Amino acid sequence: MSSTTSPELTQFAEDVLRGLSDSPKHLSSRYFYDDEGSRLFRQIMKLPEYYLTRAELKIFNEQTDAICDAFTGDANGLVLIELGAGDGSKTAVLIQHLVGRGIDFTYSPIDISQEANNTLAAKFHERFPQLTITPHTGDYLKVLGSLKNGNGTRKVVLFLGSNIGNFLRDDAVAFFRYLRSVLGHNDRLFIGFDMQKDPRVILNAYDDKQGITAAFNLNLLRRINRELGADFDLSKWSHYAQYRPTECAARSFLISREKQIVTIDALNRAFSFEQWEPIFMEISQKYTLAMIDELAAESGFEIENEFFDEENFYVDSFWRPV
Ligand code: AVJ
Repeated sequence: MSSTTSPELTQFAEDVLRGLSDSPKHLSSRYFYDDEGSRLFRQIMKLPEYYLTRAELKIFNEQTDAICDAFTGDANGLVLIELGAGDGSKTAVLIQHLVGRGIDFTYSPIDISQEANNTLAAKFHERFPQLTITPHTGDYLKVLGSLKNGNGTRKVVLFLGSNIGNFLRDDAVAFFRYLRSVLGHNDRLFIGFDMQKDPRVILNAYDDKQGITAAFNLNLLRRINRELGADFDLSKWSHYAQYRPTECAARSFLISREKQIVTIDALNRAFSFEQWEPIFMEISQKYTLAMIDELAAESGFEIENEFFDEENFYVDSFWRPV
């Protein structure tokens, strides 16, 4: 069969085909989050080495008032739109506070997983019975486009957890520019960025002792086996993480421990791997304040406020359209 993409291939199959046909080979970290991948990521968030979640939670817990002041501004009415909400446990801190203040607002989580949305909505309905929750399932860019024509109520778009770190720089700018195009002047963006710090601290966060990050990475091969009928033998692959301080970028790879051929039925193709050949899996970009300033400026925003933890490990940056 030919190696060109055919219309019957799913987006996932097409992306796997493109990535494994490229040189060097790569796979996309956006496919990490099947049920097992989401479970492994919840475990990562609890790892002693994975400081990101705790740093952001601390910012929310200790600066709740200031953050909620920024959100509400002088607008009357508020829609909190969260991109890739996951289990919403950090956001719950802010929601609790806004509910406590008697603020009239709507919470609108957007996630590609219907199941994640259902679980989140059920949990929040129980915990905040008076809160209006309008979950949207789907690709966030598409859903956001449909939210463009609001009724003048302020929209605050939340993009937490340093999820932006998975974007290459140009993709991040394109993404923020797109957001700029669907937001009005009174709307805001609230983004979590992981900061540059001791390179060893960063590397350990992506190379934990218990091997949960390795399992998280390898799980994508398992997903390809299951969903695309492939025969990756996981014992022939190992997780490798690196951090490059000159680029502020953590990257992860899966390394082929031996020369091997892997067949993927859905693609009707076999791929060969040399011994020690890497597959690039994920970038987790870290930021300096200058990089964040530049990102905002290039995408049509200015920074209204920044919330740091006391170690300056992490920042939640509050952006206003210019
Ligand atoms: C969910 C993208 C923020 O890059 O830190 C954690 C994903 N990968 N460990 C990150 C991840 C490996 C995580 N983000």
